[in-house]
Amino acid sequence: PHDRTQDTRGRTLRDLRISVTDRCNFRCTYCMPKEVFDQNYPYLAHKELLSFEEITRLTTIFSTLGVEKIRLTGGEPLLRKNLVLLIEMLASVRTSSGKPLDLTLTTNGSILRKKAAALKAAGLQRLTVSLDGLNDEIFRKMNDVDFPVADVLDGIAAAQEAGFENIKVNMVVKKGTNDHEIVSMAKHFKGSGIILRFIEFMDVGSSNGWNMQEVLPSKDVIARINEIYPLESMEPNYAGEVAQRWRYADGTGEIGVISSVTQTFCHECTRARISTDGQMYLCLFANEGFDFKTMLRSGKSDLEIANAVMNTWAQRTDHYSEIRGSHTVNQSAGNRKVEMSYIGG
Ligand code: GTP
Ligand code: 5AD
Ligand code: SF4
Ligand code: SF4
Repeated sequence: PHDRTQDTRGRTLRDLRISVTDRCNFRCTYCMPKEVFDQNYPYLAHKELLSFEEITRLTTIFSTLGVEKIRLTGGEPLLRKNLVLLIEMLASVRTSSGKPLDLTLTTNGSILRKKAAALKAAGLQRLTVSLDGLNDEIFRKMNDVDFPVADVLDGIAAAQEAGFENIKVNMVVKKGTNDHEIVSMAKHFKGSGIILRFIEFMDVGSSNGWNMQEVLPSKDVIARINEIYPLESMEPNYAGEVAQRWRYADGTGEIGVISSVTQTFCHECTRARISTDGQMYLCLFANEGFDFKTMLRSGKSDLEIANAVMNTWAQRTDHYSEIRGSHTVNQSAGNRKVEMSYIGG
């Protein structure tokens, strides 16, 4: 009966992001800094993870409530064993209007060469690859495991060879670290059919030492590129799109900027997140989740779970980016935000 769910700010639930593993083979300083994510870090045990059946069941329930887009994240989702099987299962779920879901995944690209063809065959529709620069020295420092640029570029090439058409590349910009890579990244992907997006460095989690001095506002990113390759702004693809779109005036493609610090988009945030262990989070910056794993594992019906999702969403008030300060808040227990690798970027 209900297929549209609205929160206290009139925002509709449309987009579900599912973290399939809290582990990653990179240690990007802005996401999983080595000092915190060391060998003593309490990663989840396998039995804590939602199973593929549980993820598919939840996805099916969310789809009846109006969700149209599923993004698998992590950690590094391609590290989850047999992930291709999960893609196959999710590819057969339909939206409430009977269409296939917009099924996509965010990866660091490190093992994409090995997996691209199987992912495509399983029904994955599109892909987003993270890459923070083309300068090998800078990139190796940012991923902090000495991983070379060339192997990520090769993963992207493999995805193109496998027939993926909607590939995006996400670059987190940290002022003073990789902002000199902006123009060379733009140049590299211009004309390739790949959409490059620049993301403002955010204060996700409680461990990346964020402060405003390291944020380069998206308007500066656009100004730097525009100086060399003139840009024109574009209309969003859909209401609530996170990225602002720009196209090269010479017709060689499109880029995007994601300005969650300097131009917040909470007012139209349609996203819910499911953590690796089945907690639903209503905001990237939330400090507590709602336990759906227990519901899944205690014999609740689909209808009971659907009602719980709707009730949870209906009470949603989150709008963190509109109220953040300019430094990481003090990390006493009450203020602690969950890590992005656990709830899914
Ligand atoms: P498309 O469906 O391809 O348009 O992707 P998307 O716009 O959902 O973007 P993607 O999942 O690639 O997200 C890119 C980055 O934007 C994330 O890694 C985050 O850094 C940031 N981001 C995405 N969603 C949110 C959000 O709800 N809040 C905030 N603050 N940042 C977000
Ligand atoms: N700020 C902005 N984006 C981040 N991501 C992870 N940590 C941060 C951060 N501190 C996003 C990036 C990366 C994806 C996996 O998560 O977009 O590409
Ligand atoms: Fe891993 Fe992506 Fe986080 Fe980097 S940003 S540590 S690749 S999950
Ligand atoms: Fe949505 Fe929270 Fe991000 Fe705002 S900060 S856009 S409410 S996830």
